[in-house]
Amino acid sequence: MKDKFQQNLQQTQTMLAKHHRDGEAFVQLMKDTYTGRFNDDFWDLWNTRMAPVLSESPVILDLGTGPGTFLRDIRKRHPQARAIGVECAEYMLAAANDLPEGCEIITADLHDPQLPLADNSVDVVVASVVLHEMHQPVRTLQEMQRCLKPGGIFYVMDWVRAPLAQYLADSELAVFDRQTPGEELEDLFIHFIEHNRFSIDDLAFMLENTGFHVLEKTPLKEGRMARLVAEKK
Ligand SMILES: C[S@@+](CC[C@H](N)C(=O)[O-])C[C@H]1O[C@@H](n2cnc3c(N)ncnc32)[C@H](O)[C@@H]1O
Repeated sequence: MKDKFQQNLQQTQTMLAKHHRDGEAFVQLMKDTYTGRFNDDFWDLWNTRMAPVLSESPVILDLGTGPGTFLRDIRKRHPQARAIGVECAEYMLAAANDLPEGCEIITADLHDPQLPLADNSVDVVVASVVLHEMHQPVRTLQEMQRCLKPGGIFYVMDWVRAPLAQYLADSELAVFDRQTPGEELEDLFIHFIEHNRFSIDDLAFMLENTGFHVLEKTPLKEGRMARLVAEKK
């Protein structure tokens, strides 16, 4: 009989495969859209908030790293860094299997991550569009509180709650057309719920209750997404 850990991992993999629809296409989408998430604004923020807290040989953790594009990028920018990605979707793990030296992957389910990392050993954690894919992010936040050094920075960027009309503005589906197939409507509304899990204040509330001090919270994309920067107390 499989142990509980393996069962939970498989359940999350199944849930993610459904959410991502076509795994390989989603890998490509994540690669193609990387520079939109890690854009000039992000690197300005990195230079002002994250780079100053890095130690000489920093440990940088990327939660839900996908194909590991951030890991490659950050190693180029900080050649002394140990860049660690956490991931569990099989197609993402396959896409991240040829990472350069200094980059590594931990296969773990973020719903209950027990990472092989020492207490107070991580300089910066990045969670880019990952928390909304989880049933609950509390265990992840608590594990980051354990792993981060005091004063270490936790960057969270994600979808946040927004009105349906705003969400549909990006959809090509004719939602109110009677001919639109039911399964396409169902898929769209399931994704709407998944992309509307938390408000920006909910994310800040959870960070503040897991040992972080929120330094800034900024709405993005007309309030449909948000970024938060928190410091471990
Ligand atoms: C939307 S992608 C973002 C990828 C990357 N962070 C980026 O911004 O390019 C979210 C990633 O988080 C991973 N993920 C979601 N839930 C997870 C979980 N419970 N455990 C581990 N990885 C998870 C997914 O498999 C996926 O690769």
